[in-house]
Amino acid sequence: MVKTSLPLRIARVTLSDRASTGVYADLSGPEIERILVTAFTPAPVVLSRLIPDERGLIADTLRTLCDDEHCDLVVTTGGTGPAPRDVTPEATRDVLERELPGFGEAMRAVSFSKVPTAILSRATAGTRGRTLIINLPGNPRAIGECLLPLLPAIRECLRHLNGQ
Ligand code: MTE
Repeated sequence: MVKTSLPLRIARVTLSDRASTGVYADLSGPEIERILVTAFTPAPVVLSRLIPDERGLIADTLRTLCDDEHCDLVVTTGGTGPAPRDVTPEATRDVLERELPGFGEAMRAVSFSKVPTAILSRATAGTRGRTLIINLPGNPRAIGECLLPLLPAIRECLRHLNGQ
């Protein structure tokens, strides 16, 4: 639990053709929210988006969350694998000003011992202005496995972005 003076503004963004058309329920986005709401005090303001795997739409959504909604943190889930429709890392790089490759490296490393297929995720992270953007894989089980070990670095990064 980390105390901040103002509630953080956090967005969770689920990228999935099937969840966005109702083929199955989005479990990963709510799991991101559950973890982040308990990780910060006061509880963050959480925005949520659920959109298909379209590179332009993903990039536009991320830009809006950074530039207009002034989010401190944007966490995406899904679309990081090797399938043709998986374009989240490309769309994320379209909007990043500075890449932070350590986030993706850490989540692959921490998951690989439990899930050998973890290295299929091309998830990345980085900053746009004062916003930290992080990709997570789409599997609901991956959310806790990947996000919890990243929390110390997320907190420190948000401090740096705020000039502390
Ligand atoms: N990481 C963890 N911790 N747990 C998982 O189940 N699934 C892997 C990988 N990373 C997985 C994981 C698989 S099978 C794929 S294809 C990639 O994430 C990409 O998933 P995505 O396209 O849904 O983002």
